[in-house]
Amino acid sequence: MIDRRSLMASAVALGASAAVSGSALARGAKMKPIDPRFPEGFLWGAATAAHQIEGNNLNADLWVIENVPGTIFAERSGDAANSFELWPVDLDLVKGMGLNSYRFSLEWARIEPDEGHFSNAMLDHYKAMIEGCRARGLKPVVTFNHFTTPRWFAAKGGWHNPESPALFARFCDRSARHLAAGIELATTLNEPNLAGVIGEILPPQLLAGDKATQEAAAKQLGVPLYTPGVSLYIKDPKTYRANMMEGHRRGVAAIKAVRPDLPVGVSLAILDDQAVGKNSMRDQIRERYYNEWLRLARETCDFIGVQNYERKVWNAKGPLPAPADARRNAGGIEVWPGSLAGAVRYAYEVTKLPVYVTEHGVNSDDDALRQWLIPAALAELKRTMDDGVPVRGYFHWSLIDNFEWGFGYHHRFGLHSFDRETFKRTAKPSAEMLGSIARRNSL
Ligand code: GAL
Repeated sequence: MIDRRSLMASAVALGASAAVSGSALARGAKMKPIDPRFPEGFLWGAATAAHQIEGNNLNADLWVIENVPGTIFAERSGDAANSFELWPVDLDLVKGMGLNSYRFSLEWARIEPDEGHFSNAMLDHYKAMIEGCRARGLKPVVTFNHFTTPRWFAAKGGWHNPESPALFARFCDRSARHLAAGIELATTLNEPNLAGVIGEILPPQLLAGDKATQEAAAKQLGVPLYTPGVSLYIKDPKTYRANMMEGHRRGVAAIKAVRPDLPVGVSLAILDDQAVGKNSMRDQIRERYYNEWLRLARETCDFIGVQNYERKVWNAKGPLPAPADARRNAGGIEVWPGSLAGAVRYAYEVTKLPVYVTEHGVNSDDDALRQWLIPAALAELKRTMDDGVPVRGYFHWSLIDNFEWGFGYHHRFGLHSFDRETFKRTAKPSAEMLGSIARRNSL
């Protein structure tokens, strides 16, 4: 099943050779005390993405993938959390926690259900969400594209298509003209840095399964190439990445043309890669997975969005296994609170841009783990801020359990759970944990 981050971590763990101690936090403890107060105006939020919570996203590329016979996906997104209807309830949850911001995404497949046909009703839907945020005192942080694209776009090869940057820019232009006035911060793409490279380190059978699913979808639709916006298998990674980068550039320009003062960024997936010993592979890994996009962000963005869930420690041969006493997520991957600060520091070093943590969280049914992680990670983040790294906000992934791509509903990151039949939301104790920090604006 497709969970890119866990797959990446478990795949690299295959090459592991020696244990590493989790002593960086302990070392940190000897450093100067952390000032618990966050700066005034710091954004405290929770994050979601349209396809993962809205439900019945029939025109999206993944709807075809999820439903094609033999699919690699564990289950279909179906009704999800029915947030297309229940978004006011979701906003009330954010408000009720005492957060001051909400990150969500626009669904391109709803706004442009057929190529060149834009839906004012759907644009109005997202406008109502933006206004709903404002009415509750929440600052809307809007991702223009969070992985899923319209099925007509995927049916033209997705980001392989030479027209893809222009198509994305047109979508950004139309959406910005309708919505930009109320938005606090905008991001173009979600984690584009993993596209086309993640496949290099995955077990070959997974790539083969993803490829077969895409081929089955192409056959069903009678097109030569069907490439959804989130894919493990990418036929031509070089072209695909170049088009995404150009799409980002043109997307930023389109949004800025409508509202020059709206801060625009991009959210990247960044592990906290640490180097040990002589000739550690760490810098090679950073070059391969992040630097191209970090450099593009430095040239084109007002801020950098950092999304971190784990660390990896590299020696000269590969990644080291987690310490024996590590706490682990539902996928068996180490959960290490210092990783967020490490990733943030690195993104800042390369870009020198203000940082928003646009995602951080944990896949676990044990909410005690989430309650432990949140304050510990925020303390390390604050230490980094005290050292001068300009972090402006923290968005926890996720407001609510949701459709975790290839894993379906079995991987749960939510501060709230929901009932699959009634859609009733229930807060987990971690929601209060994050809420109390946000309300105090202090650790
Ligand atoms: C990110 C992604 C989210 C969510 C999260 C947890 O890669 O942006 O959509 O799935 O990971 O795995």
